[in-house]
Amino acid sequence: MPTSESDIILIVDDTPTNLAVLSEALTSANYQVAVALDGETALEQVGYKPPNLILLDVMMPGIDGFETCRQLKANPETAQIPIIFMTALSDTVDKVKGLSLGAVDYITKPFQQEEVLARVNVHLELYHLNHNLDRQVKERTAELSEALDSLQKAQVQLVQNEKMSSLGQLVAGVAHEINNPVNFIHGNLSHAKEYIADLLELLRLYQEKTPTVNPDVEAFAEEIDFEFLKEDLPKLLKSMEVGAGRIQGIIKSLKTFSRANETQFESINIHEGIESTLLILSNRIKAKSFRRDIQVKKIYGELPLIDCSSGQLNQVFTNILSNAIDALDESASRQPQDWIPRIDIRTAIEGDQVAITIANNGGTMSPEVQDHLFEPFFTTKPRGKGTGMGLSISHQIITEKHGGQLHCRVEGDRVEFVIEIPIQQTIAPTPHQAKSQS
Ligand SMILES: Nc1ncnc2c1ncn2[C@@H]1O[C@H](COP(=O)(O)OP(=O)(O)O)[C@@H](O)[C@H]1O
Ligand SMILES: [Mg+2]
Repeated sequence: MPTSESDIILIVDDTPTNLAVLSEALTSANYQVAVALDGETALEQVGYKPPNLILLDVMMPGIDGFETCRQLKANPETAQIPIIFMTALSDTVDKVKGLSLGAVDYITKPFQQEEVLARVNVHLELYHLNHNLDRQVKERTAELSEALDSLQKAQVQLVQNEKMSSLGQLVAGVAHEINNPVNFIHGNLSHAKEYIADLLELLRLYQEKTPTVNPDVEAFAEEIDFEFLKEDLPKLLKSMEVGAGRIQGIIKSLKTFSRANETQFESINIHEGIESTLLILSNRIKAKSFRRDIQVKKIYGELPLIDCSSGQLNQVFTNILSNAIDALDESASRQPQDWIPRIDIRTAIEGDQVAITIANNGGTMSPEVQDHLFEPFFTTKPRGKGTGMGLSISHQIITEKHGGQLHCRVEGDRVEFVIEIPIQQTIAPTPHQAKSQS
């Protein structure tokens, strides 16, 4: 409970004797007293030194007490100050008018000192109680909304982690299953190439050492176009080898991607992460009935290995790239005939940070959307398509887990997301580990 010494009471009255009597009574009760002789002065005074309570005369030259009260109540800065009217009239109409204007009480002249003090005390106490209650409610509300916010964030993280982790498990499983058969296809191809070369050589020797060819053999050789077969077979084997090699590359990317649920920090090649994410999304990048192939332009800078969690970073790439594809898909119907959907990916070192910029053309984003972009559950997409979690989780991963920044820039029809993370972590949550290539 605040002490009464700290309370300032403003007395507004045009009769100096009234001022003197009240001042004395209140000062001796340990209140600080300020006085004003008319409504205008009172309003001015309240402006630069707000009192805790006002004793206000009704009849005054210039603006009267009612008008002064109305103006005080109309100003949010002063509306809370309790006002007690002082009136010589015991007329009920005046009392009712005063109370209806927002005054808390009235006292009638001539004053009963004890009564004035008692009423002032009661109203100051009420005022302080109210004030404290107000503050407590505000504090509680802030605490609650903070709790709600972090609850939402945690929920988003959980759902996204669950999603990425099951996708990661699926991808890892598929990669593992394909890996073995592809390896033996690729491994055996080099033997097959040798054997076939030997067989062809054997045939060549037969032809050379056998001057008369059996007509049946000759007919069959013609039927199967042996000359062409001899030439084509090695080429065919070569392209099988290239194909198998390509599948091995894809498997490697799938494995990189599938570490999405790992949160450990390692030294990572950022470009590998981007490539594996593009691979996962390659089907969405291809031409659709309503738009052409998306042109993905990559301008990769010379980057060192970066301290980060590759799994989490791949989540961020996936979220931003799929948003870009969504935006291109969505805008396709509004674009001119010769429009080419594009995604530009650029990486560069900027000081002690690495900057990864992912931009798409054809976009639109209203300032309202830009304001809420990173909020959990904010989405402009239809139900079932958008969850509004992608950017919120990405923001969390970049800022909280990697001590970096994620922001969005819109320029004309270009929407650009910039990820900045320190090359070396000082806030790594887990001890550094050498890169383990699974
Ligand atoms: N490249 C972009 N172009 C236009 N709008 C975008 C882009 N990326 C994100 N947005 C906007 O941000 C919103 C939130 O994105 P996100 O958090 O990933 O949730 P979701 O994709 O599920 O809607 C999207 O609904 C969209 O309105
Ligand atoms: Mg999204």
